[in-house]
Amino acid sequence: MTMKMKMKLKLKNVFMLYFLVSICGLMYALMQLGQPCDCTLHSRQSSDLVHSRDRTISRLQGELKRLQARGNPEGPPKPALPTIYTITPTYTRLVQKAELTRLSQTLLHVPSLHWVVVEDSPVKTSLVSELLKRSGLPYTHLCTQTPKDFKLQEGDPNWLKPRGVEQRNLALQWLRENRGPSDEGVVYFADDDNTYSLRLFEEMRFTKRVSVWPVGLVGGVRFERPLVERGKVTGFYTAWKPNRPFPMDMAGFAVSLPLLLANPAARFHLSAQRGNLESSLLQTLVSIEELEPRASNCTKVLVWHTRTEKPKMKQEDALILQGLGSDPSIEV
Ligand code: UGA
Ligand code: MN
Repeated sequence: MTMKMKMKLKLKNVFMLYFLVSICGLMYALMQLGQPCDCTLHSRQSSDLVHSRDRTISRLQGELKRLQARGNPEGPPKPALPTIYTITPTYTRLVQKAELTRLSQTLLHVPSLHWVVVEDSPVKTSLVSELLKRSGLPYTHLCTQTPKDFKLQEGDPNWLKPRGVEQRNLALQWLRENRGPSDEGVVYFADDDNTYSLRLFEEMRFTKRVSVWPVGLVGGVRFERPLVERGKVTGFYTAWKPNRPFPMDMAGFAVSLPLLLANPAARFHLSAQRGNLESSLLQTLVSIEELEPRASNCTKVLVWHTRTEKPKMKQEDALILQGLGSDPSIEV
């Protein structure tokens, strides 16, 4: 065998060996491809990691909130609400304490409210003074007696003379003396015997001049209300004296404090014709077109002109005649 031939044989063997090794490697790789691999452990570990990171984030967020609250316990400062000055004339009678108790407990639910209670009396009575002290409301207590000629007498029909006139005027005077141009607020005349929804107070809160809404159980109909077209008051639904300048009950409107302060002559008139008491104030303040309809364009009744029955004291009177009347030191 020549040298040349020997070399050729060696190369051939090397090549064969190389070829065999490559084939084996390839076969092994191909076999591995189909094998199932246990990856669940790996993915479980990573999802645990994500969850614990989320928990940490939410714990830190909670911590941050707590720390922020500690720095400012009332939360972010809220803009102050305009005060609702609620003016209530009231007079001594058997149901007075019951009426004022019910009204005060309604008003307690209204934020930013100041109750101006004006007694139709020459002095402040202890019944009203004590009730106000206990009420928990911010209040002002005033009194003025209706002149005798204008006061309803026992047995008079209640429509004969207007009621609560000088009392409401005294409250207006108090506002003019104790509030100024920088005070935001609205004035509402709330008689002691009506029924008020809490929603009503939020309807009137942002009155620009005079806001209006329906009143239930008044004027001999289910409700009286301003009629509204395209957001403006165009007339009134009322059956009794429809030609009054503002055929509305006292409970059906609120006046902005700045408007009242800007019109120092605006007041209620004792001489107003029957049913015209509301008009006697409003005529000097607004025109019908300027009225601001509230309570869903005056389609919701949120105040009722309820009137309380006068309690019958037949038995009490008979007992008094026998010297057996109830203990007068117990207040009713
Ligand atoms: C209706 C209206 O709802 C009243 O707002 C309005 O003052 C009255 O007519 C009127 O035309 O003068 P009405 O239910 O008939 O009301 O009147 P009351 O509820 O008897 O009196 C209205 C307010 O005045 C009450 O808060 C009441 O306590 C007070 N009042 C009544 C007095 O301060 N003195 C009185 O002698 C009688
Ligand atoms: Mn009434």
